[in-house]
Amino acid sequence: MYILGIETSCDETAVALFDTNKGLLAHSLRSQIALHAPYGGVVPEIASRDHLRCLLPLIKKILVEAKLKKPDVIAYTAGPGLIGALMVGGGLANGLALAWQCKVIPIHHMEGHLLAPMLEEEKPEYPFLALLVSGGHSLLVSVKGLGDYKVLGTTLDDAIGEAFDKVAKLLNLSYPGGPEIAKIAEYGDSNAYSFPRPMLKKPGLNFSFSGLKTAVMLVVRQAEKDGTIEKNKSDIAASFQKAAIETLIGRTLKAAKLHNFDRIVVAGGVGANIMLRKNLKASFEGTVFYPRHEFCTDNAAMIAIAGAYRIAEAQEIDEIKATARWSLESINT
Ligand code: KG4
Ligand code: ZN
Repeated sequence: MYILGIETSCDETAVALFDTNKGLLAHSLRSQIALHAPYGGVVPEIASRDHLRCLLPLIKKILVEAKLKKPDVIAYTAGPGLIGALMVGGGLANGLALAWQCKVIPIHHMEGHLLAPMLEEEKPEYPFLALLVSGGHSLLVSVKGLGDYKVLGTTLDDAIGEAFDKVAKLLNLSYPGGPEIAKIAEYGDSNAYSFPRPMLKKPGLNFSFSGLKTAVMLVVRQAEKDGTIEKNKSDIAASFQKAAIETLIGRTLKAAKLHNFDRIVVAGGVGANIMLRKNLKASFEGTVFYPRHEFCTDNAAMIAIAGAYRIAEAQEIDEIKATARWSLESINT
């Protein structure tokens, strides 16, 4: 079976073709970063319009690349995400399915992230603990099998990627902030400032990043007043990154210990962070699995492979499914 994956939940227009026998055949992505950068964050209306403009040419391109006329099934991201952006992907998926006489599968974006490591040669076996860290989520999920998910921890305020983006904005770095912070942190002293490791001493497995963000903001404001901001920028970025990553790792190791996991999957945009990847691997006794860098951030290969695992749920076109807020546990089977 050939599955076309479509991802339009936020600011990447992405498509992929997955063969249930041979694996990933082709994938392509157009990032909208340059369009949103002047605004310091994603502008929903601009995102929807650009998805609409770019989706069909991208689909045409990968079909030609894979020498395929049409897929058997179309898997599309149905949420969570920006509602207008989701409707563009869902609308086109259902329209094409009508024209091609094929079936559709609406996919949960976070399940896509969770299954992204399955695109790699070294795949995790179930059960595993998933740390899903992106611009919209910070989740610790117990994964016993496909559609057997239990959220063990979530953020009480900002998502970790959002915290990276907001701190980057404070430091006058461009959007998205995560990679920018990681870049300048390389030249900074990560012990220059002692920022809080939020929640690490608190019971439970939830995260909270607004206190850390406020602590950074106070330091930035002071440095601006003192005229030392340019000199100290990389030290602030490095100290923030260290506090944020230590918090993620601390909570993840605690969850793994409490729930007896010897496999951890890290996925989502922040999963591309080198410090997180390196330090978690070094501090965990079991095995850590990551998708390759390009499949950590939003992509359609993860949506297509999720479609492959859920092929039995392929359905005739119906109403377009687009859900801005959608809990991962609600898709349990
Ligand atoms: O998964 P993703 O592409 O989109 C969402 O579903 O949100 O994640 C995007 C987030 C952004 O907040 C971005 O700043 C962050 O991932 N990010 C990083 C890195 N690369 C991307 N955060 C920290 N370090 C990175 N290297
Ligand atoms: Zn994502």
